[in-house]
Amino acid sequence: MTEAFDWNDVLRWNDGAVRFLDQTRLPFEIVVHETTNYRRIVEAIQRLEIRGAPLIGIAAVYGMALAAKESSDLDARRDNLEEAFRAFASSRPTAVNLFWALEQARQALAQSPPDEIPARLLNLALRVHEDDRNRCDAIGRYGLPLLGKGGIVLTHCNTGVLAAAGGTALSIVFRACKENIPVEVFVDETRPLLQGARLTVWELRQRGIPHRLIVDGAAPHVMRTFPVTAVITGADRIARNGDTANKIGTYMLATAAQRHGIPFYIAAPLSTVDARIENGDQIPLEERGPEEITSMLGRTVTLPDTPVFALAFDVTPNELITAIITDAGVLRPPYTSSIPDALERSGGTTAEQG
Ligand code: MRU
Repeated sequence: MTEAFDWNDVLRWNDGAVRFLDQTRLPFEIVVHETTNYRRIVEAIQRLEIRGAPLIGIAAVYGMALAAKESSDLDARRDNLEEAFRAFASSRPTAVNLFWALEQARQALAQSPPDEIPARLLNLALRVHEDDRNRCDAIGRYGLPLLGKGGIVLTHCNTGVLAAAGGTALSIVFRACKENIPVEVFVDETRPLLQGARLTVWELRQRGIPHRLIVDGAAPHVMRTFPVTAVITGADRIARNGDTANKIGTYMLATAAQRHGIPFYIAAPLSTVDARIENGDQIPLEERGPEEITSMLGRTVTLPDTPVFALAFDVTPNELITAIITDAGVLRPPYTSSIPDALERSGGTTAEQG
């Protein structure tokens, strides 16, 4: 169950195909799929085999590179790419990194001579992947001082290498461990799909990082009774005013952190900022199938036909967020000025030209 895993197998280009780890099978089985069909990548994103905001974006550009290879007839290729674009754009609605990455693919297509499109899209995918790795490293570097001498970090969902090329919130924990700063992680199980229990626990175990799993409802009690240094989560979309959409349950954590005087941090690359939207009310929040609530690991846990509200994300209002740790530094309130300043300093959010 915990044999050493090649982290590159989470997602990579492999000799004309895309190779990816099936995250729905963790932590019980390590299953790596390989495909040359972009439709399989769309399906993997919808089923959460590939998940986590930045990783979804990277996977979509690899998928576009696959779509470009399907036909050598230029008209057929253009139609195919258009179809792929639409399929990826409707695969998951909340993670803005997906739309950020697709927009870059759109621009690469517009600037590319038709016969160079497959090579250009592949280069873009490799660049977006590398760019995310660098952004995650920077998040770890900027976030580390906020942990001081270390202590307890409480986190939600999965924000490690299974969700972004180098991790977002967990990148700070990885950095602390590298620098021998003692950290213990309290991991919310993250109902309904258990990304905390299944994925974060697996990642931390692989790396030998001390952790304890808790049920989501235990978080406020842990904050009241343990010396929690910080609550740190990732983000799926950040509005211009700092309101942040993340996995359902994040808002509850931020509220409890404020109640207990514990800093609540969001860790995310600037590619998670949606500069077009003013506040969290404008963020589309994904609702998923009722079976994700009515059953657990394949077993029904409630009465048949129970009506459910299967919201996958919530929005944490900016006033509950102590700081947003990005690849361009630690942003503090008021976010209406610190976010645009960071975007301007970093020259926008596109992956650097290689
Ligand atoms: O539904 P998921 O598993 O894709 O949700 C993921 C999260 O909510 C993460 O916290 C978020 O994408 C940031 S991860 C780097």
